[in-house]
Amino acid sequence: MIRTRGLTKDFTVCRTQTVHAVRGIDLDVAPGELVAVLGPNGAGKTTTMRMLTSLIRPTAGTAEVAGFDVVRQPAQVRRHIGYVGQGNGAGHQQRAADELTTQGVIYGLDRRAARRRTGELLEALDLTDLSSRKVSDLSGGQRRRLDVALGLVHAPRLLFLDEPSTGLDPHNRANLWEHIVRLRREHAMTLVLTTHYLDEADTMAERVVVVDHGRVIADDTPRALKRDLAGDRVTVQAAASAEAPRLATLVAALPGAREVHVDGATVTARVADGDAAVVELVRGADRAAVDVVGARSTSPTLDDVFLALTGRSLREGPETHDGDRAAGKDAA
Ligand SMILES: Nc1ncnc2c1ncn2[C@@H]1O[C@H](COP(=O)(O)OP(=O)(O)OP(=O)(O)O)[C@@H](O)[C@H]1O
Ligand SMILES: [Mg+2]
Repeated sequence: MIRTRGLTKDFTVCRTQTVHAVRGIDLDVAPGELVAVLGPNGAGKTTTMRMLTSLIRPTAGTAEVAGFDVVRQPAQVRRHIGYVGQGNGAGHQQRAADELTTQGVIYGLDRRAARRRTGELLEALDLTDLSSRKVSDLSGGQRRRLDVALGLVHAPRLLFLDEPSTGLDPHNRANLWEHIVRLRREHAMTLVLTTHYLDEADTMAERVVVVDHGRVIADDTPRALKRDLAGDRVTVQAAASAEAPRLATLVAALPGAREVHVDGATVTARVADGDAAVVELVRGADRAAVDVVGARSTSPTLDDVFLALTGRSLREGPETHDGDRAAGKDAA
């Protein structure tokens, strides 16, 4: 569905300054995949999507989308894809249903077919009761669902969603995802989306592409990324802080142990297998006569992966800007 090689975009600002927004991205997406693109603000996610949707022209490299070249065949590309941009849906005075029908006509449906499609999409995205409401009067979550419906008017095989759930409350986020997952299942659609919600990427995407400074720095299943890059974390507590150094020695000897930290009577570390480590620690402490009062293992999150890759936490949130982010704020 997507094949890019060395995809690059430079922007020139104030005639002299060059922004290297995307620096040579190689990406392959197979039909039916759901790929989440993660990265901090300014990483180049939106710029990449805009190149893939033929809205802006790459500075260098190639991209084929749905079998068409984005530079030489932009019209064919657009016919086969849907695109829901970041922060779409600015205050329209049209009614929701009319907005959808207009979009259908723009995409070449006759008015009757466009109305039929409007009915189907309103139904599919749970918007039927809101069909005669003005777009500008819809709530954020309702509007985002309408945005998704607009991206689906021409039944594309490939849908790009740029931060579909940003700004929605947890209920509306879950609701939007339910719709996305169902539409995908029913229409065998390929989905490429960006998100700042790591839990969302973790549970929904089969594949996560991490972008930083315009480059792909990781591309795998969430599970493999967590296993290979972050490792489990163990936390053990000695009965007294005087015993912590001896406990730390035991922890440091565990398979794959790294980042061993002592804080009072508590010792934490990353290890290859957290559950096995806990058992081994309890036994080892017993043998060494170190009094352990608690031990637990926690599985890594995608945020740990991001931290391991970049030294920064993605949790610092969508509202901060590139350059403002403190390095490794959440590292402790
Ligand atoms: N039209 C433009 N002119 C100049 N610079 C631009 C332009 N569009 C984007 N940029 C710059 O390119 C870089 C990548 O921006 P992009 O919008 O692709 O980031 P993003 O990963 O989508 O970030 P966010 O998570 O904040 O949406 C940023 O430094 C941005 O300021
Ligand atoms: Mg963006």
